[in-house]
Amino acid sequence: MEETLDKIAAIAKKNNIKAYVVGGAVRDSLLGRKDFGVDITVEGDGMAFGKMLQKEFGGLLCQHSKFKTASLTFTTLCSSKPFALCHSEPFICHSERSEESQHTIHDKSREESLSNKKTIDIASCRKEKYLGIAELPEVGICHGVSLQEDLKRRDFTINTIVLDIEAKKIIDLLDGRKDLDSKLIRVLHPKSFVDDPTRIFRALRFAGKLGFELEPVTKSLALDAIKKGLIKKLSPKRIRDQIVLILKEYERQKILELMHQFGVLTQLGLKLPEDKLFKSIDKNLKLAIRPSDHQWFVYLLGIINFENPSEFIVFTRLELQKIERLHKLETSITSLETIKKPSEVYKLLNNLSNEELLFIASAYPKLKSKILKFLKVYQKVKLNISGKDLKQLGIKKGPLYKELLSVVLYAKLDGKLQSRKEELEFIKKEVL
Ligand code: CTP
Repeated sequence: MEETLDKIAAIAKKNNIKAYVVGGAVRDSLLGRKDFGVDITVEGDGMAFGKMLQKEFGGLLCQHSKFKTASLTFTTLCSSKPFALCHSEPFICHSERSEESQHTIHDKSREESLSNKKTIDIASCRKEKYLGIAELPEVGICHGVSLQEDLKRRDFTINTIVLDIEAKKIIDLLDGRKDLDSKLIRVLHPKSFVDDPTRIFRALRFAGKLGFELEPVTKSLALDAIKKGLIKKLSPKRIRDQIVLILKEYERQKILELMHQFGVLTQLGLKLPEDKLFKSIDKNLKLAIRPSDHQWFVYLLGIINFENPSEFIVFTRLELQKIERLHKLETSITSLETIKKPSEVYKLLNNLSNEELLFIASAYPKLKSKILKFLKVYQKVKLNISGKDLKQLGIKKGPLYKELLSVVLYAKLDGKLQSRKEELEFIKKEVL
């Protein structure tokens, strides 16, 4: 990290640009917490500065001209030294997508921490003019706006502390450190939640994950905005982004409890999970089931109502399929508890994704051993015969092949077949 910042400082100095690290990276490092993303704000043109950084670090530069921001993703040499850099072919893409504003692009950083990819987001100091409640901010004057002006448009005082990269000095123009020390979330102006209701989610996320409280005025402004239904005016995509961020946090249960207390969950048609459920998911995730990029989805399954999975959140087709399958399976859960035959267990579980299996194992502890057995044993059982053998037996190629091979597999799962010879004998009997 330091090595990277030194390089950035040198580029800024050479080009006579004032550059600062802002937001979570400074906040979290002052709290002694690790933060994976780096946000840089420059007094001047952030997109041009992004290009300068790309020359030094290589990688992919995405420019968002509407917000005059850029984000540079590059590969590091090894994962143990997160910011050891390598030079790759520079590449520039341009994005006008408003939903992917500077507010949401950082979601990638946590996932990237697991790989060798790193992202630096670069913004230009700016003022913002809001078009209307819950809409994305229209960026006003981009150039020539001072750091102080830029900080005033931000969400909470604790997110306005900056690091002057060149001077290696903390600048705290809006008393952020005082609130950081007092563990308080404080908005910068009374219209903050009205201008951007995603800040309600952010306030509760920071409160939950940092163990902070909303200071009284901020709390009543948030409650007032919730009461007025401002959250529901956000697009389902923006609500989803916030929910995903929350579910990716280690302190997700605490944050959801706060959301429940503030009435956010009820408004969105979501439920507070039982304390035991998330603990059980945590444990099962560590146990056996392959890691996935969508672990957050397992927790999401714990807060939605399968019958009506919230109209305020956007879901993909695939996610809806999973939710629907679980809804159907809920009715046959008791039968799954009593089923003993491996082939029957296999038939019920084989078309479910890892996330669904993990959820069932966590929500229905009685089924956990069956699911583990399915994952570790049944799913690994392979036949010694294949379509080629069916062809040699003179069976016409078609969907029947799959059906026949499944029948052999079920018999093998139930311990009726041991060798290739027995499998062939079995299939002959089935066909003839
Ligand atoms: N910001 C804001 N209003 C928002 C979103 C972001 O004012 N609705 C500002 C804040 O100053 C924030 C910075 O943009 O610190 C960067 O935002 P983001 O990366 O989303 O969050 P972080 O504060 O960095 O925190 P974390 O990485 O933990 O989400």
